[in-house]
Amino acid sequence: MAFPAERLEGRFAVPSDKSLSHRALILGALASGETRIFGLLDADDVMATVEALKAFGVEVERVGKSGWQVIGGEWRSPAAPVDCGNSGTSARLLMGAAAGFDLTATFTGDDSLRRRPMRRVREPLEAMGARFEGGDTLPLTLHGGGLHGIEHLNSPPSAQVKSSILLAGLQAAGPVRVIEPQPSRDHSEIMLGAFGGEVATHDGVVELGDRRHLRGARIDIWGDPSAAAFGWVAAAIFPGSSVETRGVMVNPLRVGILDWLERMGADVRVSNPCRVSGEQVTDLRVRHAQLRAVEVPANAAPAMIDEYPLLAVAAAFASGTSLFHGLGELRVKESDRLAAIAEGLQICGVEARIKGDTLSVTGGLVAGGAVASHGDHRIAMAFLVLGLGAREPVTVDRAEMIATSFPGFVAAMRGIGARIEEQE
Ligand code: S3P
Repeated sequence: MAFPAERLEGRFAVPSDKSLSHRALILGALASGETRIFGLLDADDVMATVEALKAFGVEVERVGKSGWQVIGGEWRSPAAPVDCGNSGTSARLLMGAAAGFDLTATFTGDDSLRRRPMRRVREPLEAMGARFEGGDTLPLTLHGGGLHGIEHLNSPPSAQVKSSILLAGLQAAGPVRVIEPQPSRDHSEIMLGAFGGEVATHDGVVELGDRRHLRGARIDIWGDPSAAAFGWVAAAIFPGSSVETRGVMVNPLRVGILDWLERMGADVRVSNPCRVSGEQVTDLRVRHAQLRAVEVPANAAPAMIDEYPLLAVAAAFASGTSLFHGLGELRVKESDRLAAIAEGLQICGVEARIKGDTLSVTGGLVAGGAVASHGDHRIAMAFLVLGLGAREPVTVDRAEMIATSFPGFVAAMRGIGARIEEQE
């Protein structure tokens, strides 16, 4: 339950990046020799990848307080179905990585993951020579091995699909090309370089080079912009607020929300830029300003696809009606996020409408109420942020799902002065 807040101030504690954490583990498991990972995100989704890799026979263990060690090698058929929990990234990337080995594996997940579309990875992997039993959703059984090249059109843009193909491609013979009419996050491409792999991106084509043998590496993972964004938006919407986040990974294909918060009028300052394991990292400070409505085109979506619940919350406190176009992909996230955003806003007395793939949100007085998270961590967190600025408290159900990506969310919020209470 989130209560109306005074101004928010201080440093918002940001957990490590989730996308990078999955990739560091999986690439380490495909590389020869030892991989050391520092700053792996300790959250349920990432632990689903850890457990899955162990089931494939990979040696993965925690070393010391903040490190992990992965010893890559040949993967074997798991003895039981691989349970990816709530994590679409685990399921889709692991299917690609496993497809290169001569093994059989059944992938499954929780109720939410078993509803999400898997044909988008199944089809390209089949085109590369993998075989599947099952339909378009989990559970799916993969028979891997004997892969060849592919040229795949990545539409709608999906970093998970692209990554799945690149990971399978490491063990495929022939050219592996992903055509991206709109770029999606490129962490896999960057991290493949750190493991000695080769990926070239030119004119919207991502192509795996001939050097496909990976060597173990040291990977350092910094703050997750998708988690930091809860602190940024909280600061942007409450008068007098000023919130700092340190050491946040700011890959340009991830931080579209900063650009749009600035266009809405928020004061965003960047300092101490540096590069870690190939990714840009900076400190940031966001200060409140009276926000105004924006119209966000569809081509802005891939660089902030997970941040729309928060952008919609910001829009609820802005003057005027904001329009967010091209949100079809939100329907197949951990929940039907488009419907969940509109429903939550309406429950809290905010005018929100969906027309096709466009969401409109009219800013004004935010009343508060009991919001259904639909078991979606980002919906739960976004509406708790909204609750800080509402006239009455906001409650969200199934708040335990927040642990899939950001177990320290409540503590981080309290650290900047927010009042959030957990109920039995
Ligand atoms: C992710 C890619 C995005 C994002 C997800 C994580 C990744 O999904 O929504 O939370 O780590 O590659 P899509 O690639 O399906 O858009």
